[in-house]
Amino acid sequence: EPVVAVVVAAGSGSRLGADLPKALVPLEGVALVRRAVDALLAAGVGQVVVTIPPDHESGFAAALNGTGARLVPGGADRQDSVRLGLLGLDAPDDAVALVHDAARALVPTDVVRRVADAVLGGAEVVIPVVPVVDSIRRVDPDGSAIVDRSLLRAVQTPQAARLGALRSAHERVLADGVEVTDDAAVCEHVGMRVSLVDGHRDAMKVTEPVDLILAKALLAERSP
Ligand code: C5P
Repeated sequence: EPVVAVVVAAGSGSRLGADLPKALVPLEGVALVRRAVDALLAAGVGQVVVTIPPDHESGFAAALNGTGARLVPGGADRQDSVRLGLLGLDAPDDAVALVHDAARALVPTDVVRRVADAVLGGAEVVIPVVPVVDSIRRVDPDGSAIVDRSLLRAVQTPQAARLGALRSAHERVLADGVEVTDDAAVCEHVGMRVSLVDGHRDAMKVTEPVDLILAKALLAERSP
């Protein structure tokens, strides 16, 4: 079965303090979105759709020149961008569809493969996760309480399911007016079962300026 992907890149980058969309911010001279798309292609993904913000088509076309990625306008929020991106994929319902954040530009090839392989192996929905390193407290108006962090995982991307199932789950969530923060939650809403695989520190999401500094350091460690 083919493996295809939506890269969501339609965010504004306001938390990064850039006047460019975040996905176009360069990391050692290469735009985050280009690094993300190249990582998927290197892992064997056969087709990529990138959701882009309004008014930046030429910037994205330049950044993705030569990758073969198809550009489609994103939506009002991440969830809507994913839904529109999935509609832009030209693949059968049983294709393995990955959804990946452009901001997770340094995702290792191994993580992409683990996620895709788990779906090929029969899992319904697959997400990469990492342990939580901070101590975590739940707060409420009466005070706060420690949460056992050994029971918690932080969720990364790419997340994956079969294309047909993922498309219908997104349409259902839209029709039901449910708000979610990731694709696993979209799929759970329609009763699909989520499986976890190991993520990796390098699949961190570039969100704030300090994350770019960390990403540069990770990149420097990688190259010989
Ligand atoms: O803002 P945040 O980092 O959580 O966004 C996660 C991903 O979703 C980013 O890669 C961003 O570009 C994408 N996104 C999108 N469409 C939106 C909002 C965010 O594709 N309307």
